[in-house]
Amino acid sequence: MPTNTKRWVLASRPEGKPKLENFRLEDVTLPDPGEHEILIRTEFHSVDPGMRGRLSGDSYTAALPVGETIDSAMVGIVEASNNEKFRIGDRVTGGFGWVSHALSNGRGVQILSPEIYHGRLRPSAAIGVLGIPGLTSYFGLLDLGKPKESDTVLISSAAGPVGATVGQIARMKGCKVVGIAGSKAKCDYLRGLGFDATINYHEAGDMRATMKNVCPEGVDVYFDNVGGAMLDAAILNMKEHGRIVVSGQVSEYNRGPDELVGIRNVTRFITHRLRMEGLVVFDYFKGFRDAQAAMAAWIHSGQLQYTEDISEGIEGSAAAFVGLFEGENLGRRLIKVS
Ligand SMILES: NC(=O)c1ccc[n+]([C@@H]2O[C@H](COP(=O)([O-])OP(=O)(O)OC[C@H]3O[C@@H](n4cnc5c(N)ncnc54)[C@H](OP(=O)(O)O)[C@@H]3O)[C@@H](O)[C@H]2O)c1
Repeated sequence: MPTNTKRWVLASRPEGKPKLENFRLEDVTLPDPGEHEILIRTEFHSVDPGMRGRLSGDSYTAALPVGETIDSAMVGIVEASNNEKFRIGDRVTGGFGWVSHALSNGRGVQILSPEIYHGRLRPSAAIGVLGIPGLTSYFGLLDLGKPKESDTVLISSAAGPVGATVGQIARMKGCKVVGIAGSKAKCDYLRGLGFDATINYHEAGDMRATMKNVCPEGVDVYFDNVGGAMLDAAILNMKEHGRIVVSGQVSEYNRGPDELVGIRNVTRFITHRLRMEGLVVFDYFKGFRDAQAAMAAWIHSGQLQYTEDISEGIEGSAAAFVGLFEGENLGRRLIKVS
């Protein structure tokens, strides 16, 4: 029997901060699964700040066409299956976007093993700390940041899923960890995770001076989720041979090409022999399974914590996305669809 479903599409390209009218919720009737196909009912879908780039133009993947479903990861339950790899009731993860149901031939869909996802590790973590955000933290910090014991690691947007995971892994490596976030509640949360110090950038005033105050010896690794003026202030606090990991540029995502703030303090790269490198997490695809196993073990042993910021109902997906750019979320922003 055909299934009545919902999906969010891009209604128009945002200029500046995204607005609700840039998105449209549509009713869609899906046919029964065809040969080798499965029908998945979404339990959770993710809401990702990095999606902002593709709403306006090409990013590391092509621009999302107007009228297309907004991309995201999801966790769901197989409700019908004509594919021998999947049984009704299997809990799976895949990339189907802001949808209430998805039809798939099974390619790119993974079954979540209850042997891994139990206890502290909830299935929704498959699209959070064990999904793209957590993997970005893992590879960005360990492969590009190369933290050594006693290093000082400074992290922007530290209370988001990427930043909070970076900080905890850096602590496990014996580093001093400093998190920058946009509210006292977020800074308190980071302290609770074991961060050594925090900076509430809305109250800090001169960020260069505040960073110097909190990191008087300088910064070995700056994990940058924000870009812009915060990055410029961090550059001036880097130690010799410091590493800057460019994970995200959330303060720049809503700026047009002529409005980008960019960096000015490039001379410091010469005087302090700095290195700055960006990553696209998908380049590490071959290492995902091992990284997930390592992080799952840390979660089960209580060494790595994660927080989810969950809203109920697919009707709220667009508002949840818009709210990311107002700092609303504490932890991984998810929509509980069913
Ligand atoms: N390179 C990759 O492969 C890859 C993969 C995944 C994600 N990423 C990037 O990693 C970064 C973190 O992702 P996430 O999922 O953990 O999201 P996130 O950090 O939770 O992003 C949302 C947060 O960004 C902060 N923010 C928003 N606008 C800001 C502004 N103008 N200035 C400073 N902070 C601002 C807000 O926190 P405050 O309240 O603290 O301001 C907000 O809560 C994102 O930039 C994302 O695009 C990169």
